[in-house]
Amino acid sequence: MEQLIAKIKHYLSFAGLIVLPAKKQNIIDEFHKLYYDSYLIGGTWTSNKFLGVATQKCPLDLFVYQEILYETKPDLIIEAGTANGGGALYLASICDLMGHGEVLTIDITDLGNLPVHKRISYLFGSSTSEEIIKKVEERIQGKNRVMVILDSDHSKNHVLQELRLYHRYVTSGCYLIVEDTNVNSHPVRPEHGPGPAEALSEFFDENSDFIVDREREKAYLTFNPGGYLRKK
Ligand SMILES: C[S@@+](CC[C@H](N)C(=O)[O-])C[C@H]1O[C@@H](n2cnc3c(N)ncnc32)[C@H](O)[C@@H]1O
Repeated sequence: MEQLIAKIKHYLSFAGLIVLPAKKQNIIDEFHKLYYDSYLIGGTWTSNKFLGVATQKCPLDLFVYQEILYETKPDLIIEAGTANGGGALYLASICDLMGHGEVLTIDITDLGNLPVHKRISYLFGSSTSEEIIKKVEERIQGKNRVMVILDSDHSKNHVLQELRLYHRYVTSGCYLIVEDTNVNSHPVRPEHGPGPAEALSEFFDENSDFIVDREREKAYLTFNPGGYLRKK
């Protein structure tokens, strides 16, 4: 009997079923802080590389990206915020494996030595400037499936401006991913001030075209809580 009870307990705890919701959230948040803040000592996400190129994303999110790309097969992925180009290279490599899709990535600064890949093109300038928006509009011509990733300046005002400008490019069934909704105490970087999460909350007051896809947070740790939006 004791053995049976122990066995049941083991399976329930394995499935996360006997971890109380409040305790569970606490565990997730504490691990999130540990993983995120370890960048201060040069570890975790700031030292991540994809095929040798610095990639400032959470690896668990990258796996989710791969699932989204496979399921939605975008013709064009627009990424605001290139940095070293690791994220763009990752996306382009998945497109290579699928034999479909291109990446258009935008940054206000050219860090140089960016990956050269037939599926990646670069734009330099502010993601919200008129010149960049004009070029983005030229590039989306004829694309039936468009996905957008906002990963540039993470201040609330900038992200809100990006949301207002870029949401219309996302096609039905495709994703708008707002990166780093975790800052400003959600649950990391309390000192950040209003950021992507606050921008999203204001955006939802004015737009109902998107569904927050919480299924994409299945791995518990995500830098984008509430930031995976699917266009209706
Ligand atoms: C978090 S990094 C991007 C990380 C990259 N997506 C990756 O996966 O590795 C943010 C980038 O946004 C850029 N940035 C900041 N303000 C911007 C703006 N107004 N327009 C476009 N890019 C901007 C910064 O220069 C920086 O390279």
